[in-house]
Amino acid sequence: MSTITRIRPQSLVNNALKQTKPTLDAHRYQGGNFHAYMTSKLSTYDTERSYSLFQKTLQDPLRTSPSSLAGKSILVTGSNTGLGFEAALKSVDLGAKHVILGVRNVEKGEHAKQRILQRATSMKAQPSDTTKDGNPDDQTISVRKLDMSDYNSIHSFVKEVGKKDGRLDVAILNAGVFGVKYETAGNYGWENDLQVNVLSTALLSLLLLQAKIIKPEVGVLEFVASRRMQAVQLTEEEKKSHNLLETFNRKQNFNASRQYQVSKLLLMAFYQSLASRSAKLTEGSPIITAVCPGFCQSDLSRGHQGFAADVLRAVLNTFVLRRAEEGARTLVSGALGTKERHGKFWFDDGLHDIALPDSVGDAQGFADRIWEEVVHALQRDTNAPLV
Ligand SMILES: NC(=O)c1ccc[n+]([C@@H]2O[C@H](COP(=O)([O-])OP(=O)(O)OC[C@H]3O[C@@H](n4cnc5c(N)ncnc54)[C@H](OP(=O)(O)O)[C@@H]3O)[C@@H](O)[C@H]2O)c1
Repeated sequence: MSTITRIRPQSLVNNALKQTKPTLDAHRYQGGNFHAYMTSKLSTYDTERSYSLFQKTLQDPLRTSPSSLAGKSILVTGSNTGLGFEAALKSVDLGAKHVILGVRNVEKGEHAKQRILQRATSMKAQPSDTTKDGNPDDQTISVRKLDMSDYNSIHSFVKEVGKKDGRLDVAILNAGVFGVKYETAGNYGWENDLQVNVLSTALLSLLLLQAKIIKPEVGVLEFVASRRMQAVQLTEEEKKSHNLLETFNRKQNFNASRQYQVSKLLLMAFYQSLASRSAKLTEGSPIITAVCPGFCQSDLSRGHQGFAADVLRAVLNTFVLRRAEEGARTLVSGALGTKERHGKFWFDDGLHDIALPDSVGDAQGFADRIWEEVVHALQRDTNAPLV
């Protein structure tokens, strides 16, 4: 039984629920009857976990991923830790034939591989479990170098995957950063969030499509996005700016939290445009989709150091955030879709429209503008035509 249902007094609980109204699934919170609400929710979800009050009220628990991935080839970038690691583990556990870890540090990747093999074997299915073909072994997981701050590394990665791993059923573009201070990691002068979360992710998606590495029609290319992009309020000045990528690349405009949100907004805009153009760009386009795992425990906030950050992290981890394993459920369930997922946004076990924030104005116009900016920047930086 959840710890939530033991919390007293009830008025405190109801007040907390009211305060979290914007994110609370209000229509299912039946007339203030907290106990009935929680009991009905818990009965349909993962009841093994003891959810705290705020974990339950701020974010819905996610269904576990019951589907089999038997026979599938799955690429997960940024899979040595956090959500990517858990998504790779889940893929192996659900019987994937081959899982590719795209990581910038091969040693960390090999370590992750061993941890996945150990955990997948110890989670080994009950005799009744039909999702598995057999035990995972050394051949089940391949570690490939991918540095998302280096375009040459991205090109080499795509070539290597194409040569050694054949066609993929699923590519989960998960690698991402949340920089706490202004840094340019690559050689191209781009701030790190813009470099990794937007430009390099865009390049990787385009190269995977061009090389036809994802199975046509039925394969899935998945962007790991964030609903935090919806919090971005563009100022009038920003809207009028000649080039938004360049505007947000200026050091004086850097604000860590906003920069991360902006990077996910630009990624989402690029994704919206890519999804609408993919049929023209590549014959037999795979399904292109995007997911948001919700607020999760991971290493994403690693840049925030010090006592206050540690305390805040501990509080959030305990009371608010989903476990990385839960977030990874969304990464995996988002990749199981059929064509109706194309161009949509999967989160909280549901399929949604993309819904860029109102401040961008005409959403398709904004998406097209960002597409032009991203493609132009990539072509200029790599000195090669892309699309
Ligand atoms: N956690 C959340 O609440 C949340 C919510 C919404 C969306 N997301 C998104 O989920 C994705 C995964 O994040 P996470 O929370 O799991 O964070 P994480 O634990 O920090 O994992 C990020 C992964 O990306 C890799 N990465 C970072 N920079 C890279 C680079 N230049 N080249 C190659 N790999 C790089 C990291 O590798 P290293 O370990 O080598 O740095 C790591 O494997 C991100 O796209 C994030 O924006 C997270």
